[in-house]
Amino acid sequence: MPIWIPPIVAFLLGSIPFGLLIAKSQGINIREHGSGNIGATNVLRVVGKKYGITCFILDFFKGLVPSLLGISLIQYSGQDQTMVISSLSNWATTLDDRTTAQSLQLVTGLCAILGHNYSPWVGFKGGKGIATSAGVFTAFAPFAIPVLIVLWCILFFTTRYVSVASIAVSLALPLTVLFGSWHHGKIENGTWNKPLFFFSIFIGAMAVWKHRSNIVKLLNGTENRFTPKSKKS
Ligand code: G3P
Repeated sequence: MPIWIPPIVAFLLGSIPFGLLIAKSQGINIREHGSGNIGATNVLRVVGKKYGITCFILDFFKGLVPSLLGISLIQYSGQDQTMVISSLSNWATTLDDRTTAQSLQLVTGLCAILGHNYSPWVGFKGGKGIATSAGVFTAFAPFAIPVLIVLWCILFFTTRYVSVASIAVSLALPLTVLFGSWHHGKIENGTWNKPLFFFSIFIGAMAVWKHRSNIVKLLNGTENRFTPKSKKS
């Protein structure tokens, strides 16, 4: 299979604006309500809990699925086969250089996140990428996920600001990937996944950049503390 197919598929999947579509199905233009973001947080805030959770799951899987496809369809010859969807192995492109293979796999995850954050279907003004990035890192760095979930929960439940929790997790992502890689024995004899570490820095920085309006509101004291729709009067 041509090596450019997984990234293209990833971008197209990532670009599906599930939040916008879910809200639209309830007669709401999510762009005009709450934060105006098309992500799960705003869908939950404006449309309701079950719609927000559905949006999170769909946004998560549009990161996870193409990333797993990338891992399966672009392989390093010495790749850990537990990460490969075996029925797809016959179509895989196998490379002898580990770093090139790892980088190309990560490009699929990157394209899914870019598709979400800069979806052409919504004027290249997509979401902030937290749920989709969570799906991508579940595929590439599953060891980092439990730590990030705990950190997100601590910050959310102590501050009630989703944005504070999301920004903190984005900043912690590269460190979690680095220490997780070391702890899980993936850094040995210089063979660790350096592209994954640099990828995590880039994705974390992009997520913080996408939260810049939240940061301004936090500094102004105008950021909304989270209140689900069902608790509003
Ligand atoms: O993941 C997005 C969240 O951190 C902030 O969403 O709608 O409050 O801007 P929102």
